[in-house]
Amino acid sequence: MIDLRSDTVTKPTPEMREVIARAPVGDDVYREDPTVIALESESARLLGKEAAMFIPSGTMGNLAALLTHCQRGNEIILGDKAHIFLNEVGGAAALGGIQPHILPNQQDGTLALEDIREAVRFDDIHHPRTRLIALENTQNMCGGVALTADYTREVAEIARQHGLKLHLDGARIFNAALALDLDPAVLTGPVDSVMFCLSKGLGAPVGSVLCGKEDFIGRARRTRKMLGGGMRQAGVIAAAGLYALQNHLPLLKEDHRRARDLARGLEGVSGLSLVDPDPSTNMVYFNLDQELDLSADQLKGKLKEQGILIGFEGERLVRLVTHLWISDEDIQEVVRIFKELLG
Ligand SMILES: Cc1ncc(COP(=O)(O)O)c(C=O)c1O
Repeated sequence: MIDLRSDTVTKPTPEMREVIARAPVGDDVYREDPTVIALESESARLLGKEAAMFIPSGTMGNLAALLTHCQRGNEIILGDKAHIFLNEVGGAAALGGIQPHILPNQQDGTLALEDIREAVRFDDIHHPRTRLIALENTQNMCGGVALTADYTREVAEIARQHGLKLHLDGARIFNAALALDLDPAVLTGPVDSVMFCLSKGLGAPVGSVLCGKEDFIGRARRTRKMLGGGMRQAGVIAAAGLYALQNHLPLLKEDHRRARDLARGLEGVSGLSLVDPDPSTNMVYFNLDQELDLSADQLKGKLKEQGILIGFEGERLVRLVTHLWISDEDIQEVVRIFKELLG
């Protein structure tokens, strides 16, 4: 199967399995796992933060950040295409009593600065207190676009002016840094907290990391424990994450090139319109034309018969994601089959 549903589907490489087998471990709830400590310190270093905390998933990383920053009844400002809003089961509301204040994500993934300024609540007995702004970089549902460092700084400045915190869902922050040709720490410098995933383009089997100031991460450790995310000999999975950080970052470039090749190949296929014919990271989004007598779900079924798995994000919106396990030959094969099916 050529699996383009997501970059989460990668399996650990033989080298990762080796480091997993050899990893020194201890009880991480007691802070005694040397491999987890090494992963956390490398993560903090790469993103220019004081401290970091290994956590089982991106969803739990975002939730731990939100619960640590906010109190019940607080409001957070975020985009209508944010993963936190769309795909994290309403955890912040259900478990934290945090009210989302949703703003439209623009085509380039940003929230309009004016919209953010207007969304911040002024002090009034009727209002919830705004506590946090959350951005996502890359912005998955806007085509995997990268938000620039300048934009992030401008949002951080609004947050600072109003005494708010800024959290970044940086599940794919290294893809963003690569697309912008920047040190990732430049992108994360302005934010108070950032979560990134090891289990996506980086190819590790499990885990995410939350980074921020020492004091924030200390409090987030309590939140993680409350959520049941305190792990014991977690070095066995942290080892794969550390290996990925040390060896797989440059490979993201290949994923981006293959996504561009895929988009170029699909450009000539009839019945579909690419959202961005020149994608900057590892995602290719397209809409099936209205005239085409085929829904995304039906296309998915036909492609599966040909050995290709795709994800769809709406009735006619399809997403294809390149990753460590997708080769140049796979891209050629996918383009060939699309042409065969759609013409
Ligand atoms: C932008 C973004 N944030 C957070 C997550 C959540 O990560 P996880 O699947 O590890 O919970 C995802 C997952 O795909 C994502 O795309």
